[in-house]
Amino acid sequence: MKRRTLIKTAAAGLIGANLPTLTLAMSSANKAGSEHYDYILTAESATARIASGGDSDILGFNGQFPAPVIRAKQGKLLRIKFINKLDEATTIHWHGIRILNSMDGVPNLTQPPIPPGDSFLYEFICPDAGTFWYHPHMNSVEQLGKGLVGALIVEEDTPQDYHDVILGLKDWRLKNDGSYLPLSIPREAFRDGTLGTVATVNGMQKPTIEVPAGERLRLRFLNMDNTRVFNLSMRSNAAYIIAIDGSPIAAPLPLDAHPTGAGMRLDAGFICPDEIGVEIPIFDMKGRFGVEICRLKTVAPKTKTTKKVGIPALPINPIPAPNLSAAESLSFVFEWAGALSPSDAKGQVDHSFWLINRRAWSDHSHQHLPEPLATLSLGKSYIFELHNATPHHHPIHLHGLIFTVLESDKKDITPFHTDTILLEKNERAKIAFVADNPGKWMFHCHVIEHMKTGLMGYITIA
Ligand code: C2O
Ligand code: CU
Ligand code: CU
Repeated sequence: MKRRTLIKTAAAGLIGANLPTLTLAMSSANKAGSEHYDYILTAESATARIASGGDSDILGFNGQFPAPVIRAKQGKLLRIKFINKLDEATTIHWHGIRILNSMDGVPNLTQPPIPPGDSFLYEFICPDAGTFWYHPHMNSVEQLGKGLVGALIVEEDTPQDYHDVILGLKDWRLKNDGSYLPLSIPREAFRDGTLGTVATVNGMQKPTIEVPAGERLRLRFLNMDNTRVFNLSMRSNAAYIIAIDGSPIAAPLPLDAHPTGAGMRLDAGFICPDEIGVEIPIFDMKGRFGVEICRLKTVAPKTKTTKKVGIPALPINPIPAPNLSAAESLSFVFEWAGALSPSDAKGQVDHSFWLINRRAWSDHSHQHLPEPLATLSLGKSYIFELHNATPHHHPIHLHGLIFTVLESDKKDITPFHTDTILLEKNERAKIAFVADNPGKWMFHCHVIEHMKTGLMGYITIA
């Protein structure tokens, strides 16, 4: 009975058409220990047309870009059989999910790397609904840079009255003929990171995305780029922030311009005009002048919709509230090892340009793990005092937990839940959470080159 729903989900989620048959065949062949999973996901090389002048060799989930959208149900088991068809090892990480540590997909820390030709069964429950994503956690400059990024949507157990639109943002380091520019330039890794040259939304340059006139949209923006901060705005069109990095906010807030760093997400509610053919541009507000990244265009709705009024809040996820008066405070300082000359690096990305609490960890793949940045007691509340002592911004991400941003010395904060906090240069901020998920959890900057050059560590909860 369950099986039927799963098959439907798979078919609707753009997943390989042979999957439902396979699932059925296996289940009926072996009634006792029937193996069944919702998705089969591969990582493999492929070609795609990204630049205007020619095809590019990419790395794609199921050989495609954009990657298949994985849809799961809140509180339900999600099983993904992952097959590594790359010619190097990898692991897959489920960004933002409060997951079992053994399923978190971090090489050597939570699982052995998956060698080429091998597979791994990821199975976990998604306790929270929202906009999440998935990506490898190995050789990330290249594996993510060449296309291994995809959306993971966890649906609320009660359906919300929104029409979903996924907007996957990713820039590519390509020449016009489709060949790659160096994915990382040390002097850039040393600063804000190496920016792409070809910007895409859902794999297309400045696409026009058709949306049903009169509908209430849930625009799910996912910044799946290695580097760029998108300051997302719909300018004078009345859009509302309804969730930040997967976590709903208590009351929708007008979207003016929302800075969304690498790895971060934004869900915006927007009611389309009733007229057909209306175009609504979406911007990355850089400086005073925005850059248009894509536009929406209203078309006749497929099904008759009722008049939409207002932007309802989404149900809040079951994140435990930290006990702030009993919480232990720990401090984390992010520093720039500015004395190191990037010119020594000669195209290598293995230098340590960045430090967390005076330590750099850049050799992610070796067997000898460093000591954790901190060891937390299971069930206890913590406040992390973060200090970005560098002249660059850093989207700092914690695996396995969702934290509350309490305050910042740079802006007024209404406390909100997130898995990634974008720290501006010299910003100090406080975050808090209950250490209720045991394991070893990565704590790193999501500018991939920063992570690769030292801005990476982990905490242990036991
Ligand atoms: Cu998107 Cu270590 O994370
Ligand atoms: Cu993550
Ligand atoms: Cu950074």
